[in-house]
Amino acid sequence: MTESFAHLLVDVDGPVAVVTVHRPAALNALHAATIAELQMAFEALGANPSIRAIVLTGSGPKAFVAGADIKEMSVLDPLGMDAYARAGQRLCATIETLGTPVIAAVNGFALGGGNELAMACTLRIAADTARFGQPEIKLGLMPGFGGTQRLARLVGQGRALHMLLTGEPIDAQEAWRIGLVNRVVPAAEVLAAARATAAAIAALAPVAARLIIEAVVRGGGMPLADAVRLESALFGLVASTDDMREGTRAFVEKRPAEFKGH
Ligand code: CAA
Repeated sequence: MTESFAHLLVDVDGPVAVVTVHRPAALNALHAATIAELQMAFEALGANPSIRAIVLTGSGPKAFVAGADIKEMSVLDPLGMDAYARAGQRLCATIETLGTPVIAAVNGFALGGGNELAMACTLRIAADTARFGQPEIKLGLMPGFGGTQRLARLVGQGRALHMLLTGEPIDAQEAWRIGLVNRVVPAAEVLAAARATAAAIAALAPVAARLIIEAVVRGGGMPLADAVRLESALFGLVASTDDMREGTRAFVEKRPAEFKGH
């Protein structure tokens, strides 16, 4: 990637890109300029077929992302707040439907818009020191980057409403127990663990990964009969890839598959 960013670091290592939100003085809070840069970075990485998986993390030891930028939001009028929320929602939708798997390495606080950003990722790996919450109610606010919807879908309505209405954060173990994160690892290992998961997925068939994400994310919003029909149509589509022929042939020939990405 040739663009340079003021509030992000983007590091590409073979098929894995690591995107780091880099505003440590504000605990990586998402102001409008950071949201715009993330949008640009994810669109570019998602359009690059040589990138097979992306890790998203935050700069410094303390925070993944401590939320939308409260200072910036505090002076917005209602139309400004609506535009702010729509920019955050667009970013979250872009990440969720990118097709390239995105793994959040949650290295610290994931609060408000930070938890919403993590929930838009395909998978979440948390440092044992991470804390998750939707504290907007303590600011007289509510989540605006999709948190009322994705939290309830991930952990169930009752648990989501408890977090949303009390604003109290939960620790990484509790986040794992309720299904908000996939895995908890020692803080010093969170980036390496996310990179390793990204590399493992990157070695598999990318078209299959893309279609699995589409079936789960798009199908999750459909009635079951329509969602399973979408699944069978995508199952047919995946059979058009050389990787499907290679994967099944390799199994029959008792050798490791060599996926080409098409
Ligand atoms: N927006 C802007 N600045 C933030 C911020 C945020 N969300 N979170 C932290 N910062 C800034 C602080 O203002 C402080 O800056 P200064 O040194 O210039 O004062 C710096 O980051 C360090 O923060 P603290 O001194 O507060 O650090 P701490 O260790 O004492 O506390 C914390 C850490 C508990 C995460 C605390 O910073 C905090 O509560 N942050 C706000 C969390 C929050 O409410 N997030 C939700 C935002 S609303 C939202 O996200 C709406 C939405 O859905 C779209």
